[in-house]
Amino acid sequence: MSDTPRMDVLSRRIHLVTGKGGVGRTSLAAALAWAAAREGKRVLLTQIGDAEGGYSAIGRKFGRDQLTPDPEPLGPDGLRGCHVWATRGQEQFARSVIPAGPLIRAALNSKVLRKFATAVPSLHELGVFYHLLTLLEAQHEDGRPEHEVVVADMPATGQTLALTSLPDILLDALPDGPIPKAMRRGQAYLNDPAKTAAWVVTLPELLPVTEALELIDGLRATRVHPAGILLNRIPEDPFDADERRALSALLLEQPLHGSAAFHRIGVARAAEERLRSGTDLPIFPITEVPDADSPRTEAAIEPMLRDQLASFLS
Ligand SMILES: Nc1ncnc2c1ncn2[C@@H]1O[C@H](COP(=O)(O)OP(=O)(O)OP(=O)(O)O)[C@@H](O)[C@H]1O
Ligand SMILES: [Mg+2]
Repeated sequence: MSDTPRMDVLSRRIHLVTGKGGVGRTSLAAALAWAAAREGKRVLLTQIGDAEGGYSAIGRKFGRDQLTPDPEPLGPDGLRGCHVWATRGQEQFARSVIPAGPLIRAALNSKVLRKFATAVPSLHELGVFYHLLTLLEAQHEDGRPEHEVVVADMPATGQTLALTSLPDILLDALPDGPIPKAMRRGQAYLNDPAKTAAWVVTLPELLPVTEALELIDGLRATRVHPAGILLNRIPEDPFDADERRALSALLLEQPLHGSAAFHRIGVARAAEERLRSGTDLPIFPITEVPDADSPRTEAAIEPMLRDQLASFLS
């Protein structure tokens, strides 16, 4: 792991942790946010939630089942968390256009309107986008940003790209007015590689690697800068090249206890090579935390992931 890249990660204000379902987005977003806070940054960790409440995956990393759309301390110094709600963003946006709070809230709380808002896809994304923008722009009285770093545990690929492509779509459709203005404000963050980094999380297996390469293309098509790949759950490889050759010859003759694990190491190496040949992006290897599926070790994973991520930060 000596060739692991380091980069000036924390100069970026926004970190979008992306990837397909189940690859470890939530775990790594939480670990990244925590590692950033440990470096002394004021950090907000967020995920898209919905106003109906429900379980918070990022909250759970910090011992709470639910989070609200208002940032609150998560425990570690400098780290706060909240959910992004489309309805909150829609309300904030409406209020920025028509300054009549109670009326707008009443309207947005109406069942009919809520149904309408979820049926029109861009309205949902507009709400999410605007709430995120408001969180980013929030300032203390002295002008310092409330959060220097915002880490977003993004939804799976399709929904993420729907969000990152929103400004271009709306700017194409609407010539001028408050929506394009908000979209341009958002673009000033999202499409600036000095401000926003997208992290593509994937696993060392062939299909996830192919999907990660597609996601990288998708992000670039929406002009969001993929900063690097978090190649998660790399199995530990205790063998050198000679041992591997000898062992694979032996296992061809007779399968032994542990053949599956050995095979997984081979698959992971092939997948990593495929990834390296498919992209020039820096790849940050994150090793598999052993026995992670047992509930006891689930709690032990986070500090180990955090330490691995912290070693990439400069
Ligand atoms: N490096 C790792 N080693 C071992 N287990 C891991 C590692 N990274 C993640 N996991 C485990 O994998 C599972 C899925 O991780 P996580 O919930 O972070 O993925 P996700 O991409 O957010 O999934 P979802 O699509 O459901 O939101 C969790 O049980 C987590 O503890
Ligand atoms: Mg998740």
